[in-house]
Amino acid sequence: MPSRTAQIRFVSSHPEVYEPCDDSFALVDALLADRTNLLEHRPTLCMEIGCGSGYIITSLALILGQEANGAYYMATDINPHAVKVTRETLDAHGVDAELITTDIASGLARRLAGLVDVIVVNPPYVPTPEEEVGRGGIASAWAGGENGRSVIDKILPIADILLSDKGWLYMVTLTANSPSDICRQMRQKGYASRIVLQRSTEEESLHIVKFWRDFDTQGAASDIYSVKKTGHANLVESLLSQCSQLSFWRHNNGNSS
Ligand SMILES: C[S@@+](CC[C@H](N)C(=O)[O-])C[C@H]1O[C@@H](n2cnc3c(N)ncnc32)[C@H](O)[C@@H]1O
Repeated sequence: MPSRTAQIRFVSSHPEVYEPCDDSFALVDALLADRTNLLEHRPTLCMEIGCGSGYIITSLALILGQEANGAYYMATDINPHAVKVTRETLDAHGVDAELITTDIASGLARRLAGLVDVIVVNPPYVPTPEEEVGRGGIASAWAGGENGRSVIDKILPIADILLSDKGWLYMVTLTANSPSDICRQMRQKGYASRIVLQRSTEEESLHIVKFWRDFDTQGAASDIYSVKKTGHANLVESLLSQCSQLSFWRHNNGNSS
């Protein structure tokens, strides 16, 4: 049986790109453990924010495999070297994804609002001085600012825009990030959450948190982005049109792999 996760020996690398590490492995293990649910979920569009080497988006495509029946994969990273390396990693494993060099999902949030069924993120979560955040290169792989929350707190509202009604978000967090506070924040946006994997390494205590919309508690949730309520019936049609617009956007911006 072909491997269900990316093989480290086929994962490409670059001195300025984060190499798969304990956090990457924990996220992939969580996805693997949730495989049956993911297949039943029948995702149409899956996205990784901050793809680094491509280990996770490649693994997700392999985990879902043919059984996901034509799921479409996308990944972003602010580091252009990461996008190039991710392309090489995907190619080495015979899987494909649309790759975009951008800040979180900038330029995509409006077009893909309410269309993404699965988002995976291993964000820069290490507590650092605020001025280290977004410096570019390899430092942007870990520098998370105060409590490691600077980038995480920007990703959460964007994930809320992108996720479909049935969308799931899997995110790596550290104890120092206060995962319970992140869950509380997402609860206010109408999401339930669960820690699906917890792992302590010599250096850190990692939590992989899964979020999904909880319609029982969503009455109070914000309706600012009403654009995302496209309805499931329009999903595929909408996605196809978004994807062709995306190719157009990529072509005209010339910054994707
Ligand atoms: C901890 S690394 C994870 C890399 C890879 N996903 C993995 O798990 O091995 C975080 C990644 O997020 C990217 N990143 C940091 N800030 C970002 C931002 N504002 N928008 C998009 N990507 C970002 C970094 O360049 C880096 O590749």
